[in-house]
Amino acid sequence: MAAVDRKRGPIPFFGEQFDRQIAAGQYALNPFERLALPFMKGNVLDLGCGLGNLALAAARQGARVTALDACGNAVDDLAQRALDSDLPVWVRQADLEGWRPEEQWDAVACIGLLMFFERRYALRGLDAVRDAVRPGGVAIVNVLVEGTTYRAMFDGDDHHLFTRKEVLDTFEGWAVLEDREDWFDAPGNTVKRFRTAIARRPG
Ligand SMILES: C[S@@+](CC[C@H](N)C(=O)[O-])C[C@H]1O[C@@H](n2cnc3c(N)ncnc32)[C@H](O)[C@@H]1O
Repeated sequence: MAAVDRKRGPIPFFGEQFDRQIAAGQYALNPFERLALPFMKGNVLDLGCGLGNLALAAARQGARVTALDACGNAVDDLAQRALDSDLPVWVRQADLEGWRPEEQWDAVACIGLLMFFERRYALRGLDAVRDAVRPGGVAIVNVLVEGTTYRAMFDGDDHHLFTRKEVLDTFEGWAVLEDREDWFDAPGNTVKRFRTAIARRPG
């Protein structure tokens, strides 16, 4: 996995947000993490874990968790919280653009990450999530889709707003357990449109 040295775009953007959340002790699960949690069982992977609230909640319910993110303050804070709680969460700082799995997991969550990659890496990222799931396992993917007008966290044009088809085509032949779109108002009269898919690999 590549080293992390980004001066603009989502990583410094979220780094500042995580600093504020850590200082305020804000560690609540977001709605997408709440949707994912029941599926996080066995050996699980959280790609783009952020502060790792899902990772810790999954570990608390018995999962063995690998959690990866590029933000140094988030992974340091998560590693400390996992240690303090004596929970099985293996945490690493990693730039996940271009990441490919070397093993397979019972569940792979990738919530709010892939749209920050440039298009070719964003689409390959979906394939990487799919390939990281063992037969019978579950993928949980959440991305921003076309129609999103909020741009503050993007680095110029180096991002990709997905289509529903791109997401669902990736999991063709899998049992789709969830396929939903959620809209949120954002600053400056803009909007964020999220697609969440949860799918089980045959096996
Ligand atoms: C919207 S946050 C989502 C965090 C978490 N999954 C959640 O649901 O709260 C996006 C996350 O993607 C991470 N991220 C963005 N680009 C990344 C990259 N190239 N490699 C690894 N992580 C990245 C950010 O650091 C941030 O933690």
